[in-house]
Amino acid sequence: MFVNDCLNVNEKGHLTIGGCDTVDLAKKYGTPLYVLDETTIRETCRSYVNSFKKFYDGNGMPLYASKALSCKEMCRIANEEGLGLDVVSGGEIYTAVQAGFPMEKVHFHGNNKTADEIRFALDSKVGKFVVDNLYELELINQIAEEKGVVANISFRIKPGVDAHTHNFIRTGQIDSKFGFALETGEAFEAVKKALTYNNVALKELHCHIGSQIFDIDPFVTAAEIMLDFMGKIKDELNVVITELNLGGGFGIMYTEEDEPVPYENYMEKVSEAVKAKAKEHNLPVPYIYIEPGRSIAGEAGITLYTVGGKKNIPDVRTYVSVDGGMTDNIRYALYQSAYTVVNASKADKEATEIVTVAGKCCESGDLVQEHTKVAEVEVGDTLAVLSTGAYNYSMASNYNRIPRPAMVMVNNGESRVIIKRESYEDIVRNDI
Ligand code: LLP
Repeated sequence: MFVNDCLNVNEKGHLTIGGCDTVDLAKKYGTPLYVLDETTIRETCRSYVNSFKKFYDGNGMPLYASKALSCKEMCRIANEEGLGLDVVSGGEIYTAVQAGFPMEKVHFHGNNKTADEIRFALDSKVGKFVVDNLYELELINQIAEEKGVVANISFRIKPGVDAHTHNFIRTGQIDSKFGFALETGEAFEAVKKALTYNNVALKELHCHIGSQIFDIDPFVTAAEIMLDFMGKIKDELNVVITELNLGGGFGIMYTEEDEPVPYENYMEKVSEAVKAKAKEHNLPVPYIYIEPGRSIAGEAGITLYTVGGKKNIPDVRTYVSVDGGMTDNIRYALYQSAYTVVNASKADKEATEIVTVAGKCCESGDLVQEHTKVAEVEVGDTLAVLSTGAYNYSMASNYNRIPRPAMVMVNNGESRVIIKRESYEDIVRNDI
C-alpha cells in the first residue's frame, strides 16, 4: 500500500511506522519529527552483507556512507550489523569515534580534507584515506611523516561513466570536482607518485558514479574500467592493488514511479564482472567495498509535520503550511525531489485533494512538495513525508533560527529519541 514496507494504517485510520501510531508520536515528541524504523535499517544492512556472502564468497564489506545520516545511533547500528563506515569530514569522524566505532573500518573521503582533519583522522586511526588530488596526497604523506606513521590510502578515480541521475549528484564523468581522471592519464601519474612516497601505502582504488541510480549497467561498466586500470598498474608498474571500492548510489523509492532493483541483483552482476576481469588481467580477485548511504537510511525514515494553515487561491493552488520545511528537508528546494506525502491523520481515506505543502521559512521556494495528492487536509492534521531518512537531517540548517527537529527510532511498537530536538538555547550557543 505504501512505498515503504514499515508503514501501515491502524484501526483509527492513522499512519503507523514500525508499529507506532504516527499521530501519537507527533503528540508525544512534537513536530516536526524525524522517525526512523530500526527493522528496515537493519534488514537493509543485512541484505548487503548477505549479498557479499552469496555472490562474492564474503570477500568484501559494505561501508555505510554516513553523510546520508550521521549520528551516533546509526554508527552503532552499522557496526552491529558488520558494516564499515564512509566519512567525509572531521565531524563525521568525531561522530564515529564518539559512537565507539572501530576506526580501522572507516574510510575518509572528501575533495578538500584540511590539514587539521588529516591530523585528526590519523590520531583517530582511521583505516583509509580516499585521496582526491595530488596536493592532498602530498599533505597526507607529510603529516603522516611528522607523526611517524604510514597512512593507508585509496585513490578516488573518475571512471568516465555517465550515470543517469540528477546533475548535482552525478560524479563519475570527467567534469566533476571529485577525484582523478583516467582518460587524461592523471590517475596513472598519481599512482606512480604515491609509490615514491614513504608515508602512504596504496592499498585500494575507489570510484563512485553518482547517487539515486536504478540502472545496474553503469555500475558494472565502472567496475570493469577499474579492473582494467588495476591491470594496467600491474603490467606497467608491477604493482598489484588488492582492494577495490565501488562507491554507493543505489536508488530508493520516493514515489511509486521509482523502481529500485533488489540490491542483491547489483552484487550478483558486479561480482561476475569483477571476477571475469580479474581473470582476464591475471589479477587476484580483489576485496570489494561498496558505500550505500541513501539505501540504508532513506526508506526507513519519515518526517511528521503539523498542519498550521491552509490557503486556497482560486484557480491557482492550495497551500498547506507545515511547521517545518526547507530547514529539515532542503531536497525539494535544491533538486525538486519528488516525495510521497500522506495525511497521517486520515491515512485510511482516499487521496483526493491536490495541495502544495509549504514550509515556514521566509522564502517562497521553501516548499516540501508541489501539487501532491493527499486525503483532505484540515488544520491540526499530521502530515507525513515518506523516505526522508537520508539527506534530510544531514542537510538540515538553522535558517530563520529554526531549531533542528528531534529524531525518534521506532522498533516493533516501541519508540525512543536518538537525536534530541534543538532548543533556543542551542540556537544561541555560539553567539558571543
Ligand atoms: N560514496 C561516495 C564517495 C559518495 O560521494 C556518496 C554520496 C556515497 C558513497 C553514498 O551515495 P548513496 O548510496 O547515498 O547514493 N545530497 C544528495 C546526495 C549526495 C550524495 C553524495 N555522495 C541528495 O540529497 O540526493
